[in-house]
Amino acid sequence: MSGIDTLGYIGFNASDMAAWKKFAPEVLGLQIAEELEDGTLVLRADSHQRRIILHPSDQDDVAYVGWECRSREGLDEVRSALQSANIPFENVAMEEARSLSVREMIRFSDNDGVLIEVHYGPTILSNQPFVSPVGARPFVTQEQGLGHLVLASGEYSKQNTFYQQVLGFKPTDTLTIPGINSEASFMRVNQRHHSLALVDMAPTHGPRLHHIMLEMQSLDEVGFAYSRARAAGAHILIDLGRHVNDNMLSFYVLTPSGWAVEIGWGGVQIDDETWHVTHYPTNSSWGHEFHMPPSKASN
Ligand SMILES: [Fe+2]
Repeated sequence: MSGIDTLGYIGFNASDMAAWKKFAPEVLGLQIAEELEDGTLVLRADSHQRRIILHPSDQDDVAYVGWECRSREGLDEVRSALQSANIPFENVAMEEARSLSVREMIRFSDNDGVLIEVHYGPTILSNQPFVSPVGARPFVTQEQGLGHLVLASGEYSKQNTFYQQVLGFKPTDTLTIPGINSEASFMRVNQRHHSLALVDMAPTHGPRLHHIMLEMQSLDEVGFAYSRARAAGAHILIDLGRHVNDNMLSFYVLTPSGWAVEIGWGGVQIDDETWHVTHYPTNSSWGHEFHMPPSKASN
């Protein structure tokens, strides 16, 4: 078992930074912490200095995923697990790690080529409290981490083995997504039902990332986000509904990058002592109606 404890941060490549500069604060309620000289946007969701980082690019997809360990000992456990599995990794130079607001970091790729940054010691700005640009309370993070992400995987079986056997993610459950008839696998690194889910589907076009999830503190805050998305003219990709497995009541709004953000509330927390791994023949108990996004070709 390795020492990853939470989802720390996610980096993205994004082609329309101007749209993101409005969408992130005005629809999602994320705080723009910093805009770097190269146009990179650093966003906050809580006391962490960096939670979501958007890099100007001609691509739109996940660029790297930052998994956080509680301590140096946890990071050393991940190093040992990778060495035992003969998986190469880079020890990131101290200066670079510090410039990315963590104390220490290693880098490697998963079986789908997603860049992973395992680290400990993120910078916390308790002296500059998170200020939501829309007046919402901070997202549900803390010991449950930033939220979750869902990736399409062309190496589904290998990836499940890698994350669970090498990196120590615990399998929570699986389900079959109706319509596309693909299996999805949900994994946790803390009490959050899942911090990562993989869908057995090679991305043929568009981003590998399907969505990230940010959890609100109340149902009303999901409703406020829904109203903001509608008022901003954003596309609701998946309408309000309740998931069968993590019980999240949520909707999905399409970002300027063509992947979605799930805004949710009420996700279950897992008790490792009593949890049974199960399978579901569907993904939602009600709602979650899919709305086809407007074709980019028609723009
Ligand atoms: Fe989700």
